[in-house]
Amino acid sequence: MGEKLDDFDFRDIASDFTFVLSNRGAGSRRARLQKSESRLTSSTVVLKTEGLTKSFMGFVAVQDVSFTLHEGHIHAVIGPNGAGKTTFFNLLTKFLPPTSGRIFYRGEDITRLKPAQIARRGVVRSFQISATFPHLTVIENVRIALQRKLGTMFHFWRSESSLTVLEDRARELLAQVGLESFGHLEAVELPYGRKRALEIATTLALDPDLILLDEPTQGMGHEDIDRVKALIKRVAQGRTVLMVEHNMSVVSDISDRITVLQRGQILAEGPYAQVSQDPRVVEAYLGTGH
Ligand SMILES: Nc1ncnc2c1ncn2[C@@H]1O[C@H](COP(=O)(O)OP(=O)(O)O)[C@@H](O)[C@H]1O
Ligand SMILES: [Mg+2]
Repeated sequence: MGEKLDDFDFRDIASDFTFVLSNRGAGSRRARLQKSESRLTSSTVVLKTEGLTKSFMGFVAVQDVSFTLHEGHIHAVIGPNGAGKTTFFNLLTKFLPPTSGRIFYRGEDITRLKPAQIARRGVVRSFQISATFPHLTVIENVRIALQRKLGTMFHFWRSESSLTVLEDRARELLAQVGLESFGHLEAVELPYGRKRALEIATTLALDPDLILLDEPTQGMGHEDIDRVKALIKRVAQGRTVLMVEHNMSVVSDISDRITVLQRGQILAEGPYAQVSQDPRVVEAYLGTGH
């Protein structure tokens, strides 16, 4: 077992991804690709919070946040250190229960659901949840992610061509993230930036509707950042992506919309060009108000 698997129940996830396929699959992927043509014009709300609040022993880390995420967007959450970004992210991904407020996914109240239950609905947190096995090869990791999703589909496994289908799909996903020539390596042998690409491939294997990314470029050098930036843009086709991100070049290049948090509250929201000109945002980052 990989060290990353220690903190979640793999069986829980495995049974959930079976569900993902039975509810979703190729048809929904096609539908989403069609939808992606209307990218940026969609007004469908994917995720919504109302008065979301989280206190830690009286300290309010996220305060009364009412937030809307639109279908097809790459939406970045930014803010100075300690602003509450990670806490907000953990509330959305159900890793923390809110003190008050509500969270809706496509109109359904998911405030009390568990991470595995939202994964079943197509909400997938990358990097943490899409754990990779360090001593399996890159292609094996992707194949396992696909198998997790296909798990108990009896008809699928009866088919003689099923293994070929799996292999083809795994190769397709590796190509999508630029890892086609790395398939034979053990995951542990991949350079850091390429590991993230593998994690994205295993996330995509689950055919998510909404991908949640926590600091996807953290700890990376320029070259890797550019690669991951392009990758996020590519995987966002026909999907919605919410990311917490520090790197402003990433935020300005690929976000459709930005939410700025400060002291647990929304300070500003809008496209980068608008938000970056907002004097309150400039002040929050430069700290001139202190
Ligand atoms: N588990 C916790 N217990 C107590 N305080 C916490 C906890 N998690 C975060 N905080 C506090 O909440 C505030 C926001 O933290 P965090 O969400 O990590 O901010 P960011 O990710 O924007 O840097 C910080 O002041 C932090 O110390
Ligand atoms: Mg943080």
